[in-house]
Amino acid sequence: MSDRLYIFDTTLRDGEQVPGCQLNTVEKIQVAKALELLGVDVIEAGFPVSSPGDFNSVVEISKAVTWPTICALTRAVEKDIRVAAEALEYAKRKRIHTGIGTSDPHIKYKFNSNREEIIERAVAAVKLARRFVDDVEFYAEDAGRTDNEYLARVVDAVVKAGATVVNIPDTTGYCLPAEYGEKIKYLMEHVDGLSAGKAILSTHCHNDLGMATANTMAGVLNGARQVEVTINGIGERAGNTSLEEVAMILKCHHDINIDTNINTTKIYPTSRMVSSLMNMPVQPNKAIVGRNAFAHSSGIHQDGVLKNVQTYEIISPKDVGIDDNSIVLTARSGRAALKHRLSVLGMEIDGEKLDKLYEAFLKLADRKKEITDDDILMLAGADRSASHAIKLDYLQVTTGLGVRSVACMGLDIAGEKFEASASGNGPVDAAIKALKNIIKRQMTLKEFTIQAISKGSDDVGKVHMQVEHDGRVYYGFGANTDIVSASVEAYIDCINKFKK
Ligand code: KIV
Ligand code: ZN
Repeated sequence: MSDRLYIFDTTLRDGEQVPGCQLNTVEKIQVAKALELLGVDVIEAGFPVSSPGDFNSVVEISKAVTWPTICALTRAVEKDIRVAAEALEYAKRKRIHTGIGTSDPHIKYKFNSNREEIIERAVAAVKLARRFVDDVEFYAEDAGRTDNEYLARVVDAVVKAGATVVNIPDTTGYCLPAEYGEKIKYLMEHVDGLSAGKAILSTHCHNDLGMATANTMAGVLNGARQVEVTINGIGERAGNTSLEEVAMILKCHHDINIDTNINTTKIYPTSRMVSSLMNMPVQPNKAIVGRNAFAHSSGIHQDGVLKNVQTYEIISPKDVGIDDNSIVLTARSGRAALKHRLSVLGMEIDGEKLDKLYEAFLKLADRKKEITDDDILMLAGADRSASHAIKLDYLQVTTGLGVRSVACMGLDIAGEKFEASASGNGPVDAAIKALKNIIKRQMTLKEFTIQAISKGSDDVGKVHMQVEHDGRVYYGFGANTDIVSASVEAYIDCINKFKK
C-alpha cells in the first residue's frame, strides 16, 4: 500500500507576504475554495494577530471551506495563540501553527536568548495551543541552519508537549538536498515520538538557491509526511516550494509509492487564478504551469512528438488541466460561453457582476480578435478598481519620432472632473506628467514593467508599477490594449492605495 503525503498550502500566508500580492478577503475566499477543489489537506489562511484584515480572512475562510483543515500562524507568544484560536472559531477542522527560531543566529540576535530557554518557550507555546485545538503544528524557524542534535531535542520536547506536526523550515533556502534529507532522516531516527507515530514531520523549503523542490523531495524520501507549498511557488524573496511540482513528481514517479489527494486536473486553472488575482505573472518556462511548459519548438522534438508524444512528453497537458480544445472566445460569443469559461477558470460569476463583465468583454473583443483565458482573468480582476476614488476618464496622447509627446487627460476624483495636459520625452512620460499636474503629491516612480499577455500586436499589455510616497512603496497594476493607458491605470492604482 502506498503512503499518504499531506499537502499544506501556504499561498494565502507565506505566498501572500510578497509585496504587491496582497488579496482582499473576498479574493482570499475565492482562492481558498479553489484550493479545496484542488484537494489540499491544509490551508494556512493567515497570521491573525498581524492585522484585523488577516484575522477577518481566517474567520471568513473558516466559514467558507468545508474539507481542508484551516491553519492559523502564530509566534510562540500567548496573545498570538489566543487570537489565532479566536479566528479559527468557525473552522470545521482547525490547526494552530506556532513556533520560534532555533538556529544560533535566531537565538542570539533575534531573541537574545539561549538554547534551553528557547525549548521552554516552544513547549509553553505548544501546551497553550493544545488548550484550544487538538491539532497543533510547531515550526522550528531556520531549522535548515540549526544543528541536528539540538533540533532533535527541540522536536522531542514539542512532540512530548502535544505537537501533532513538526515543521522543519529551511527558512533561508540554504540547505543542499542531501543535507536537508539527512536532517529529516536524523530526526526520524532520533526522536522517539516520531517513530511511535505521535507526530509527523513537515517540510517548508524556500527557493533562495533554486533548491526548494529538490529539498522538499529529499525530505519526503527520508520520512517527512507533510509538505508546505504554494501555488506557482510564490512566496517571500525567491519563493516557496511549488505545489504543482511536488504533486506532479509524485504522479510521474509511481516507484516512490507516495500519494497525495491532489486532483491534478485542477492545477492549471488554480495557477491562472492565483497569478491573476495576485498580479503575479508566471515565468514562461516555469515547470508544469509556465506558458512554454508543454511547447515543443525544436524541429527534432516536434517530429518526435508527432510520431508519439511519449518521445518527449512525461506529462500530458490534460493531466494538469490544460485544455487544448478550449473554445476561443470572440465578439460573437455569448454570455453563457463567458460564464462557462469563467467557471473552467475557477470563478463562479452570475447576475449583475456577469453582466458588467460581459460588457467589458465585448469592448475588449472589439479591439482584439480572440479573447484568451489570460484576458478573461484580467477582466475578472478589473472590477477591483471599481471602488477607487480616482479613475481615469479619458486619455489622448500624440506621439511620434522626432517630436515631443503631448498628453491630455481627464480624471474623475470622487465624482468631480479634472483635466490637465503635459508634454514629455515619450507618451508615458507625457501622460504621467499630466497626471501629476492634477494630483499634486510628492510621488516617485520606482519600478515600471510592461508585459504582453500572450502574443499579437492587438494583445493586452499588463503594467506593474511601484510608486514611492511618504516613505512607503505602493504597488499598482493596469491592463489595456493601449500600453500608455495601462501605465496610467497602474499609476492611478498606486495613488488610490496611498495612506491618506
Ligand atoms: O520560512 C519559515 O520559516 C516560515 C515559518 C514562519 C513557518 O514561514
Ligand atoms: Zn516560509
